[in-house]
Amino acid sequence: MEIKVKKLEEEFGKDLLIAQTPSDVEALRIKYLGRKAEINQLFSIVPSLSKEAKGVWGKNLNILKNKITFALSEKSRGLNTKEEKIDLTYPSARLTRGSRHILNVVSEEICSVFEKLGFTVVEGTEIEDEWHNFSALNIPLDHPSRDAFDTFYLDIPQPQEKHRGKFLLRSHTSPSQARVMKLSKPPIAVVSPGRVYRPDSVDASHSFMFHQVEGFAVDENINFAHLKGVLLNFARLFFSPDVNLRLRPHFFPFTEPSAEVDISCFICKGKQEKCSLCKGKGWLEILGCGMIHPEVLKNCGIDPKKYKGFAFGMGVERPAMLKYGINDIRLFYENDVKFLEQF
Ligand code: DAH
Repeated sequence: MEIKVKKLEEEFGKDLLIAQTPSDVEALRIKYLGRKAEINQLFSIVPSLSKEAKGVWGKNLNILKNKITFALSEKSRGLNTKEEKIDLTYPSARLTRGSRHILNVVSEEICSVFEKLGFTVVEGTEIEDEWHNFSALNIPLDHPSRDAFDTFYLDIPQPQEKHRGKFLLRSHTSPSQARVMKLSKPPIAVVSPGRVYRPDSVDASHSFMFHQVEGFAVDENINFAHLKGVLLNFARLFFSPDVNLRLRPHFFPFTEPSAEVDISCFICKGKQEKCSLCKGKGWLEILGCGMIHPEVLKNCGIDPKKYKGFAFGMGVERPAMLKYGINDIRLFYENDVKFLEQF
């Protein structure tokens, strides 16, 4: 017994020295402590020994077993710190995919519908001046929208050309009309998306910054029917193929005649009394439009006797809220991942 135990201990000592990798150590664990390990055979001899020898060898074998267990765990600890251990079975960290902001998506959806209808996308500038934001668009000097309560004026040196007035954050995307018309010749068909700013206090349906898409077309024989046809096509491509339009007479300084446009509610189809979207009205207001005022064409270097044009302007937040059932405008700007990743 003594010889066998000694031999086993020596053999283990040699094997342990040679072991280089965690799998070598694992092989030793199986060899010396596994079900078929020699030490188990030695344990099985113990009951047949004399009473005295039983006690001695039972104890010695247990000591040896503990030694082997300890030595193996020390060895594998040493190996783990020396070489990087990569556990290929470990579940990987969840990679979440970023997504585009819903307002960018909707703004592009709107523009791409108009692109299909022959319009070109042109972006204006967020810092504008009084001439492009108001005067060119026939907005009179005493119009309330020019008031500092309705427009953010910028505290920076004024433009060199005196007629351009002060710099400001554009309060609508309509100045894009003036910028494009000054630089191009009809026929023109352009849509212009972007951010606009107004000193509104923030609530569920207002924000001091929001998004609009402006659109306009200028050519020799443009008339109101073209405007209506373009808008109807837009509404059916963007909202739902069965929506209808309703135009209500309105006033804008830059268009004459002007109208506000409603679409028939695409949820209740105008029929349901307790519709959560249209509140039973059957119609949803989506934009303002009209025939470009001759003064605007003239201000931008286009002969109003030869050319006519139509224009329209719509928010992006409202169509996005209608289409995706969002009930608070503030959700767009809070950047809560739980909200954003839904789109
Ligand atoms: N600029 C207007 C606004 O911000 C929207 C608008 C209305 C634009 C009628 C137009 C238009 O081009 O014809 O409220």
